[in-house]
Parts: sequence; structure tokens; C-alpha cells
Amino acid sequence: MKIGTPAETFEGEARVALTPDSARQLQKLGHACLVQSGAGTAAGFSDADYHEAGVEVVATASELVAASEIVTKVRPPTETEIDLLLKGQTLISFFYPSTNEDLMNVVADKGIVTVAMDMVPRISRAQKMDALSSMANIAGYRAVIEAGNHFGRFFTGQVTAAGKVPPAKVLVIGAGVAGLAAIGTSTSLGAITLAFDVRPEVAEQIESMGAEFVFLDFDQAQQDGATTGGYAAPSSPEFQEKQLEKFRELAPDIDIVISTALIPNRDAPLLWTKDMVEAMKAGSVIVDLAAERGGNCELTVADEKIVTDNAVTIVGYTDFPSRMATQSSTLYATNIRHMLADLTPDKDGTIVHDMDDDVIRGATITHDGSVTFPPPPPKVQAIAAQPQGKPMKEPTPEEKRAREQVEFKEQTKRQVTLLSVGALLVLVAGLFAPASFMQHFIVFVLSVFIGFQVIWNVAHSLHTPLMAVTNAISSIIILGALIQIGSSSMLITLLASAGVLMAAVNIFGGFLVTRRMLAMFQKS
Ligand code: NAI
Repeated sequence: MKIGTPAETFEGEARVALTPDSARQLQKLGHACLVQSGAGTAAGFSDADYHEAGVEVVATASELVAASEIVTKVRPPTETEIDLLLKGQTLISFFYPSTNEDLMNVVADKGIVTVAMDMVPRISRAQKMDALSSMANIAGYRAVIEAGNHFGRFFTGQVTAAGKVPPAKVLVIGAGVAGLAAIGTSTSLGAITLAFDVRPEVAEQIESMGAEFVFLDFDQAQQDGATTGGYAAPSSPEFQEKQLEKFRELAPDIDIVISTALIPNRDAPLLWTKDMVEAMKAGSVIVDLAAERGGNCELTVADEKIVTDNAVTIVGYTDFPSRMATQSSTLYATNIRHMLADLTPDKDGTIVHDMDDDVIRGATITHDGSVTFPPPPPKVQAIAAQPQGKPMKEPTPEEKRAREQVEFKEQTKRQVTLLSVGALLVLVAGLFAPASFMQHFIVFVLSVFIGFQVIWNVAHSLHTPLMAVTNAISSIIILGALIQIGSSSMLITLLASAGVLMAAVNIFGGFLVTRRMLAMFQKS
């Protein structure tokens, strides 16, 4: 099939849906690629780069669309762009069907198959096609860089000859894809980072990235912020009130707020009110990533940067991915390439639009001349959704204690049975075996039993360091075996040699594993 990528017509849009690299991969799937001249210039890809990658460079959008069977784009198509499309063509692009219903009806009536990249379901198999996540990741990173650009101080604390500089305090609201990217960037720049989300299960993720989760004085499991399809659901009014109360308390102390809170298909929740902005220190910065959906901050103006009377800068840009066009085009083109790989199962350049496939069905919004949006829920569970869509519930201390008691009783029962069987076997062996054998045999059985008990209770994460410790035991085994190895009995020599060999494997294996483990923590 011929895949064509026109230049984006939306003012200021610098991204492009095809890169020379993605074109090379698409050609391996049996497709031919075309690009409109100049389409990649703003993202750093020249016509010559495309030409070198085997892409045909076409002068105008109309020529390009006429020569293509599949059209790939970034922004939803305008009516003029839809006019160029022909019946039977496939359009792969962001579309936002719930807010672009009229446009969706037009493409359906024209008999165009539309794959909306923003409708890719959030299931593990589809992660490589999840363009919303790719863009949100970039937006989260860029939000922190943008905040730094307007913030007059360091992120990290410093002690210099000229004086002590305190670290900046950053609050990230919403720890979805953009939020986590912002947390990662902020902590790596050295700021004290706090983060909040309505989904309590992200607390661990936040803390593992070096940030501090802001807990509310509220039973989060009670609130209805359950996840559906990998996204959060609205929270209760009581919860919202507690949340605002906490933010109000934090506001005077926070230097930078990065807000990313969003519930799909709804206006962004209002979380940073006018009085919170007024309580912030002069020079503080708010970057509101939710600006497109009304903003999380009451004073945000979409697509603009404003400075309030108390000198707080509020950034409401909605085009962060486009501001890092090379990176975002590379990721977006890769997402599209993966979508096309799924649409070309035999890698022979033939598109198979399998409407039974969760991902393809989920993203297809028009097919066979009709609208196929909204899709049925995917058959497999969304990544972030918990079983039965319920948030994870921590057991209460009483539940924990009762569970531990039951486990302890079961373990004791198992051990008593094992010991009785073992004692019986030793007794039977004692009836027939010579006394000298029994002495060694009992020592052997007891060491196996004690060794097993000790190792069994060591946490899995400590098994590797434990292996290093067992080197000491292995050396004792080698010493014993060396004493026996010169014996006149062939059997004893053979057993001693086997003992030396196995203990040596354990020692050298232990050293190798320890080395590898240490290398994992060393910076290259
Ligand atoms: P996401 O759905 O992965 O994350 C949103 C997070 O907000 C979720 O973790 C959710 O639990 C949380 N949340 C919802 N309500 C909340 C509340 N009341 N308080 C605290 N947390 C709450 O979304 P993603 O992909 O991370 O995107 C985040 C935002 O960034 C969206 O508004 C999106 O439109 C925007 N965005 C903006 C761009 C720009 O250029 N300005 C570019 C890309 C994304």
C-alpha cells in the first residue's frame, strides 16, 4: 500500500506523522511511503532525509493524497483536508471523536476508514501504539523545563561561597503519564517534589521516583475514584473538599505547580483556585497541562502565559509536544508504524482491518461508510484498572493479624508432619544401618533441615547476597572433600571430587552473580 503524509496545516504545528526512520520500517512491512515536500522541516527532517530513506517527496497535499491509499496525519483533519480524501482510503490521525462528531460523520459519509490514534485502548498490548501517552510523556517533561525557564532560581539546593540556596519545591497534581514524566524530570533536577493523585495505588510509583506522595486525611479507598479503562473516575465532593483544603495549606510553600489532572471526556477538575495562586510566593510558576480542557487552575488562559498581580507566572500552553517536534514526531511516527504493523499481519503490504482485534476495533471510528464510535469495551482489562474496577484496598490491621494467625497454624501443621515422617524414616534406617553411618547421617539430615529452614525464611530479594555468603559454606565443603579425596576407596574419591566440583561451581557462580549485581548499581 502507498502511505502518504501531508504537511500539517494547523498554525504553529511542527510535528509530522512520518520520519525517515519510521518510513524505513514501513517499507519492511511491504508499504511504499510518500511525504509532502517540507512536511518534516519544522521537526528537523529535510526532504533530502526522506529521499535518502526511500520516501517519494511530493510537491502538494492534493497530489500526495491522490497518490496514497493510506493517509497519516497528526492533527484531526480540517474540512478542506477531508475534501481531498477519496472513498476507500484509510486515514490514521488524532481525531478526538467525542468532540469532533460532525467531522466524524463527514468522513463516515465519504466512505473513509478512520483510525483515531487517541482512541487506542490503554491495554498492555497496545502500549507501543499509545500516542496519547507518548505525547503526554513529552508534555510532562517539557512542562518542568518550561517552569524552570520562568522560575528565577535553581531547582536543586546549593551551598556556595556566595550563600546557601534552598531547593525548589515542586507539586505535581495528577500522576498519570504526564505527571510521572514531570515527577521524573523534577526529581532529576534536584527539586523537592510532592505529588498527588486521586488513585492511591500510584503512591508507591511516586515514592519510587524520589517524590513524596501527598496523603489526605481521608479514607481514599472509600472515595469513588476507581479506575476505568486505565483512567480515573470522578471523586466525591467530600474528597474534593479535603483535596482543596490540603492544596490551600501547601500553596504558600510551593514554588512550582505542574497540574495534569484529568478525567477523560470531562472538563478538567478545578484544583488550584484563585486564592491559592494569591497565597503563592512572588516568582512562583504554575504550568497547567490541562489548559485545553479548561485548566486545573482557575486563572489559566489556554495557549497563553500570564503573570498575576502577585508575580506568579501561569503557563497554559496546549502545544507542548509540538514545542519538542523532533522528539514527538519520532515517537508519534513510531506509534503509527506499530499500528500499521498490526494492520499488516503478513508484512506483505496488504492491510487487514480486523474488527475483532481489540486495539484496531477500539481505534477505528469510521468503517464501511458508518460511524463505529464509541467502541465496545476491550475484551482484556485495561492496564491501570484493578480487578472488578475497584481500587486496591489495604487490609485492616485486624484482617492482617487474623490472616497471619491462619498462615502460622498451617505452617506449624506442615512442619510437624514433615518432622514426624523424617523421624520415622531415620528410625527405620537406624534399625538396619551400621552405627557409624547413622552418626554421620543424622548430622547430614539435621544440617539439611536447618539450612533449609534458614534459607526458606530469607526474603527473595536477599537471595543474591545470600549466595555470596554461602561461599563460606562451600569453602568448608571443599576443605572436607580435599581431606577425603586421597582415600583408598574409589567411591569416596569420586564423591569427594564431585563435592569439590559442585562447591567450586557455587563459589565461582556466586562471585559472577555478585559482580553482575554490583555492575547494575554502578554508573557507566
Ligand atoms: P492521564 O489520564 O494519564 O493522567 C491524569 C491523571 O490525573 C490520572 O492519574 C488521574 O488519576 C489524575 N486525576 C484525575 N482527577 C484528579 C484530581 N481531582 N486530583 C488529582 N489527580 C487527578 O492523562 P495524561 O495522559 O497524563 O495527560 C495529563 C494532562 O496533560 C491531560 O489534561 C492532557 O490533556 C494534558 N496534555 C497536555 C498537553 C499540552 O501540550 N498542554 C499535551 C499532552 C497532554
